[in-house]
Amino acid sequence: MSSNTTPTNTVEIKKGLEGVVVDTSAVSKVMPETNSLTYRGYPVQDLSEKCTFEEVAYLLWHGELPSKKELEAFVQEERSLRTISPELASVIKLFPKKAHPMDTVRTAVSYLGMEDSDIWSQDRKSNMVKAKKIFSKVPTMIAMDYRCRKGLPVIEPRKDLSFSENFFYMCFGEVPHKDIVKCFDVSMILYAEHGFNASTFTSRVVTSTMSDMYGAVTAGIASLKGPLHGGANEQVMHMLKEINDPAKAEAWMLDALATKKKIMGFGHRVYKRGDSRVPIMKDYGQKLANIKGEQKWLKISDILEKVMIEKKNIHPNVDFPSGPAYYLMGFEIDMYTPLFVMARTTGWTAHIMEQAENNRLIRPLTQYTGPAERVVKTLAERA
Ligand code: COA
Repeated sequence: MSSNTTPTNTVEIKKGLEGVVVDTSAVSKVMPETNSLTYRGYPVQDLSEKCTFEEVAYLLWHGELPSKKELEAFVQEERSLRTISPELASVIKLFPKKAHPMDTVRTAVSYLGMEDSDIWSQDRKSNMVKAKKIFSKVPTMIAMDYRCRKGLPVIEPRKDLSFSENFFYMCFGEVPHKDIVKCFDVSMILYAEHGFNASTFTSRVVTSTMSDMYGAVTAGIASLKGPLHGGANEQVMHMLKEINDPAKAEAWMLDALATKKKIMGFGHRVYKRGDSRVPIMKDYGQKLANIKGEQKWLKISDILEKVMIEKKNIHPNVDFPSGPAYYLMGFEIDMYTPLFVMARTTGWTAHIMEQAENNRLIRPLTQYTGPAERVVKTLAERA
């Protein structure tokens, strides 16, 4: 019995639902025994090499990769939905400038729900319309919020650019080298979906009450923010910057382990022998470092990874290589988890549709550990 399993008189409690299978899903398969991951049966490595993020979004929602004609129609629709309403734009402009971008995108998605007159419909067709709106508009919200916080003029989305190109354009006013865009696109593919992780499960729980897709995605964003989940990619870069010198990396890690620090970007609830997404993200991160002529962050990362595996046999997760990759692309550190949101809206909404179509309220039990039943004293008696 693992230390996370508590025996009680009647049931075994699996703390953190570790190892508990709560439902079926056809969206993705995480295989810790082979360190692999498939979306609708396709290995993420193949999808990363051969597809764009738009094709992967289509796959997650429809179960099949699009034909050329289907992709053209989807891409056109996605591009036509990118603009947000003037009302939402003015709300984003009013957000506190020091607010974390995860809080601003969470609020902006919630606002998007208030604008949808069809918010309550749960059938597949209506949910698909909502999923596409969220997918197309979230990058616009994030880029607009970024520009407002920096006091820069907002840049409207362009219809002649891909999802990833357009995001760079809306943030920085230009599209970088195609290899940099590809690295970003791959990070979107790798972040798109990952089974019943905490934020996806959160979205499914909300959906199971027959609440709406915007609410479920808003809750997913709140769940992803935490450093034990999506927020780790930001913490990884803070750690690399704190170390700052490859010569100091080994001593830093040994000291962190000796003082029992949790090292962000390492460990995983499901993968115990390595995360399927790490080798791909590392390859693209290396290409990026070569283009930028900046090897320092990857050198520090390599040393940290080596020491962690040697001393604790704990492997890096995908947040470990994606943190420095986003840094090299020029994104501010507090943007990294919102970038994860941009990708994961696809997986969340695929799961929300799956849950809505075969729904049963998710309502587990708890083993009560409070006081035994007792008599209520009146306020006068309690004096
Ligand atoms: N740094 C140091 N030790 C770690 C660790 C890390 N990142 N991740 C796990 N461990 C250690 C734990 O301290 C524990 O050691 P112990 O048995 O001596 O107490 C053991 O490994 C098991 O870890 P546990 O916390 O029970 O695993 P979990 O399945 O509950 O947690 C994570 C998984 C992801 C929450 C955990 O690995 C973590 O906090 N990682 C850092 C955050 C992160 O990168 N999150 C992104 C996940 S994709």
